[in-house]
Amino acid sequence: MKISNFGDLVATGQTQSGRAQLRATEKGDLSVVTLGKFRRFFSAIGRNQAGRDSNRAGAQAYVAHVRQTKGFEAARFAEAALSHRIDKGKPVSMRKIQALESAWHTAVQATGTQGARAFQAADLVDAGEPVGLGSNNKIVKATFDNGTEVMTGALKPLGTSAGAVLLTGRDEDLGAETYVLDRNLASQRMAECLGVHVIAGGVPAQTAQGKPALLMELVHGDSVADRVDAGKEVLDGPELRRGLVGLQVVDILTGQIDRNLANIMLKRESGRDIPVGIDNDLSFVTAASVEELHTFVNREAKPVGMPVVLDQSMRQQIMRMTRHDLVAVMGPNLATAGRLEAAAARLSALQAHIASGAVMVIEDSAWQHPQVPHLLNQNADNYWHQAMHARPETT
Ligand SMILES: Nc1ncnc2c1ncn2[C@@H]1O[C@H](COP(=O)(O)OP(=O)(O)O)[C@@H](O)[C@H]1O
Ligand SMILES: [Mg+2]
Repeated sequence: MKISNFGDLVATGQTQSGRAQLRATEKGDLSVVTLGKFRRFFSAIGRNQAGRDSNRAGAQAYVAHVRQTKGFEAARFAEAALSHRIDKGKPVSMRKIQALESAWHTAVQATGTQGARAFQAADLVDAGEPVGLGSNNKIVKATFDNGTEVMTGALKPLGTSAGAVLLTGRDEDLGAETYVLDRNLASQRMAECLGVHVIAGGVPAQTAQGKPALLMELVHGDSVADRVDAGKEVLDGPELRRGLVGLQVVDILTGQIDRNLANIMLKRESGRDIPVGIDNDLSFVTAASVEELHTFVNREAKPVGMPVVLDQSMRQQIMRMTRHDLVAVMGPNLATAGRLEAAAARLSALQAHIASGAVMVIEDSAWQHPQVPHLLNQNADNYWHQAMHARPETT
């Protein structure tokens, strides 16, 4: 049984028995098997390396599934709850999954959607290993422990980058403060609001020196740019297509001007490439002409056009989005009158584009259809085209 219809699984009552266990298919998809009493008994006493690997793969496929459907926060919760089982290769029963999911719902209700989570310099227990060097920032792997929660992630100091300085000049309504943290968190909220979990999740943190920083989901993989420069291929697939179109929509709505191919990471998960947007420092710009600013800030970043294809859920989420949602997504620091006006104009333009019938709307499950790459290949105004046709840097 494929778990793309997770609700069905609960409905079948399989979970009630507690006998069903998570497995991964050969392709790494999530599946569930129901073991009889004796099989269960023997599988428990005779667990060998292959059995442990299979249990581990099942738990990991579940975490990947949660990340795709419920986002980074939920996935991290699931990963933490299952860490012992993943470590030891113990089986994960559906009863365990039910308990985990109900604990997650309770936690969400208790903290609100975003919660008030943050880490201070004093909570930093380990920082070192560099994970990447951007044009402006050095990012390290770091672990924080604030007494109630331990989190390991990619720690990015939020200094004023050249781009952000330029942006400050343009964004008169913000004054000296560039709110880089808010821009990153707001980009993530926009993705969640659209139901496309394509932005690396992050929480406010500090560097060892007490400077503001963002502690992000550590993306295991490399950027599209690095992948291509290393002569390795970007694997096409439904997740890649949906993810990159989702990122395109997020970037249109957030006024993102820095989505060059080094700011799109690819996570190899169950043999698929899953795109994750990082570096959302230059979002929610107010400049009337984004294109003009675009070429000025970052010559590598190619402007992104309106979508040519969307799935039904994406279309619905975009069409039902209101100015009120924009206020919630942007948060109090960014939602100044001018910035809100700019965001509302971007939203209206996208909604009008969709309403005009210029977009092919497909079923949520139809991203693997050959018509999709055909459409995306028609012009270079989208990230899928840019990623699939990228050539190594020659400089
Ligand atoms: N969340 C992350 N997980 C893993 N690697 C990351 C993450 N964020 C950034 N990196 C690595 O660090 C590099 C620079 O990060 P980025 O945020 O783009 O910095 P800059 O603002 O300097 O461009 C990326 O190209 C990537 O290799
Ligand atoms: Mg970058």
